[in-house]
Amino acid sequence: MVVCSFIESCCLTDTGCLPYGYRMVATHPSASGSDWWRGDVIYQVYPRSFMDSDGDGVGDLPGITARLSYLAELGVDAIWLSPFYVSPQNDGGYDVVDYRAIDPLFGTLHDADELISTAHDLGLRVIVDLVPNHTSAEHPWFKAALAAPPGSPERNRYLFREGRGKHGAEPPNNWKSIFGSTAWTRVVEADGQPGQWYLHLFDRTQPDLNWDNPEVRDEFDSVLRFWLQRGVDGFRVDVAHGLVKAPGLPDHDEKIVMADGSPKPAPMFDQDGVHEIYRRWRKVLDEFDPPGLHQTKALVAEAWVWPPSRLAKYLRPDEMQQAFNFEFLTSKWNAANYRKVIDSSLTANEAVGAPTTWVLSNHDVVRHASRFGLKDPGSRPNGIYATDEQPDEVLGLRRARAGTLFMLALPGSAYLYQGEELGLPEHTSLPDEVRQAPEFFRTHGEEAGRDGCRVPLPWAADSPGFGFSPTGKTWLPQPTDWRNYAVDAEAADPASTLNFYRSALALRRKLNLGFGGLTWVDGYPDATLAFRNTKGVLVLANLGKKPIPLPPDAKVLINSDPLPNSGKLPADTTVWLQ
Ligand code: GLC
Repeated sequence: MVVCSFIESCCLTDTGCLPYGYRMVATHPSASGSDWWRGDVIYQVYPRSFMDSDGDGVGDLPGITARLSYLAELGVDAIWLSPFYVSPQNDGGYDVVDYRAIDPLFGTLHDADELISTAHDLGLRVIVDLVPNHTSAEHPWFKAALAAPPGSPERNRYLFREGRGKHGAEPPNNWKSIFGSTAWTRVVEADGQPGQWYLHLFDRTQPDLNWDNPEVRDEFDSVLRFWLQRGVDGFRVDVAHGLVKAPGLPDHDEKIVMADGSPKPAPMFDQDGVHEIYRRWRKVLDEFDPPGLHQTKALVAEAWVWPPSRLAKYLRPDEMQQAFNFEFLTSKWNAANYRKVIDSSLTANEAVGAPTTWVLSNHDVVRHASRFGLKDPGSRPNGIYATDEQPDEVLGLRRARAGTLFMLALPGSAYLYQGEELGLPEHTSLPDEVRQAPEFFRTHGEEAGRDGCRVPLPWAADSPGFGFSPTGKTWLPQPTDWRNYAVDAEAADPASTLNFYRSALALRRKLNLGFGGLTWVDGYPDATLAFRNTKGVLVLANLGKKPIPLPPDAKVLINSDPLPNSGKLPADTTVWLQ
């Protein structure tokens, strides 16, 4: 293979630069614009489980601040913090009582200010989580709604309805909660009699807000301004596709799942009216941007919407900047599938001038080092019990490293979830007594739930609780073999996943791959994902079982696992070449 010194121009114009016999078939040009959110790497911090500073076994804001230098050294550009607001923690903080205050479990507003300014000093941007679909049932608004009569302005902030059937004893419609069981709970009125019902797409302690009510809209404008004034760089918008429901709340006979996948949106998701909200929020964010074309403040949608062209609507120039690419996260371990997903997401977003994001793990899914070790690596169990099929840890990690390496070479913004840089697997043997995720309770244990991906991080191999907390306490028990995954152990091992992530992130930054374009390279066996990032890297990922020949004379920049001397790329391995 010819190695070009100016890869970007010569490889795009001169096919002679490509490995023999390969041709380029499609090009996704570099995204226009240089705003950070178009190509930065964003690291998700789950505050309960990142680092505990006060010894109560629950992570907190001072703990995060103390370890921000670790993240700067890792080489990420920004952090996204899962919710830290006042909350009874019935859904890990996604049940908010006060959007403008920090839960004492995590610290104080002063701690949040410290965190934001320390992050900025280290060159890290900060995105916070915004939970607008529902509040906690302990939110003052909901308490007022319960105390007020049907038809009152207090009830009109939520979705209260009369029941159906005799004496209204049946729920207003047949919707089910995403966490299992019904999506409606009946309240007891002031006269002591059963009365209206309220909607909760999630737990009964998470009542859905009524986004047709201007008061709700005004309140969230104000919450956005509150955090923007404190210096945050953006918001991750929880359940962004769920705020507006179809008029009349019609019945929906299918099970409600976040990843709907049906071309016709379910009546609780992806209604056209939701876009008006994001246009309005965009204007609020613009108040905090410098005049001109630059958008320094960003919104990222958690919207499980399909197909990609519908998701791209959230990214029109006057709406949000990013949306999580859950089609990528849920793709099967198969080159053709990845290629299809990558192509369709880039194409859909190019049509609206938006970048694409890439993500393999977060706090809601089985960690990818474990998912990829299952017999069906594309399956998406909601948690894994000790009695379920156990992931192959070695194979899972090998694929996870390979998957991460091709993800980090894709143009667009990449999201990492805390602990994946250590190769952490899912905890698959948590005792039921310690589980906290609401779906475990609402499904009566049918689903193990999401606790297994939320286990406190191991920082020090030889300390109690692996150094997560000064007392050794951890709010969820860690597997005993996490010693090998501890940050200090991995930092000392050149072949560790941590050092692999550090190298890959440094190279990605040096080559500016997030801001590149993509060209598919054909001619390799079907099981190969082969593309060129126009910033100067040829990426080959072998997702099949047989080794594939590497182009002779190619310079290896980084590989996800050792390469044998045979000149072949082993199964489940990715390599960046120049
Ligand atoms: C989002 C969050 C998830 C939470 C749910 C309800 O999907 O990522 O953790 O349980 O919304 O707020």
